[in-house]
Amino acid sequence: MPARSATAADASAIAQIYNEGIADRIATFETRLRTPEDIRERLNSPQAAQHPALVVEEGGKVVAFAWSAPYSAREVYAGIGDHGVYVARAARGQGYGEAALRALMAAARLAGLHKLTSRVLTENTASRRLHIRCGFREVGVHQRHAQLDGVWRDVVTVEVLL
Ligand SMILES: CC(C)(COP(=O)(O)OP(=O)(O)OC[C@H]1O[C@@H](n2cnc3c(N)ncnc32)[C@H](O)[C@@H]1OP(=O)(O)O)[C@@H](O)C(=O)NCCC(=O)NCCS
Repeated sequence: MPARSATAADASAIAQIYNEGIADRIATFETRLRTPEDIRERLNSPQAAQHPALVVEEGGKVVAFAWSAPYSAREVYAGIGDHGVYVARAARGQGYGEAALRALMAAARLAGLHKLTSRVLTENTASRRLHIRCGFREVGVHQRHAQLDGVWRDVVTVEVLL
């Protein structure tokens, strides 16, 4: 399951996969569905130079992606990536998430980042298992960190040193 850098031509596939994750209400606090243009803007933004975005393909079709974004605007935290990993609904549970996340870790290290971190909804068992399998540690739980559809939710912060 080789991964490669995402390009603007992947924007539609990435938007579709991301929107499935948004719709499932287990992956993110985001609720606004993304357009391919939103994704293209992110892939072409200045931050993309230090923050990789990768896709995994199967049979010529993008089935997963993983990407990093700046963790903070503060210069002292410039080496930290705030990452996400998403697999197409129909392709979950087959190792594509692991392939995407491991490729992101390698690319982020090459790009000079020293850490990846994210917050995972405590109920998101698949994501928590995936992160632990890839060497992340669970730092701790933020209680009532944000609301999703009006309900306060807890998240566990995960991190890996690269
Ligand atoms: C979370 C996600 C990225 C995992 O990717 P995946 O390709 O489905 O997972 P993998 O096949 O690589 O398996 C990774 C681990 O997750 C476990 N897993 C996968 N699907 C699972 C499920 N539905 N329930 C419980 N565990 C699951 C696997 O057993 C494996 O853990 P193990 O090594 O302890 O057995 C994917 O399911 C997904 O895109 N979910 C929706 C979006 C999301 O939640 N993104 C993460 C945001 S933090």
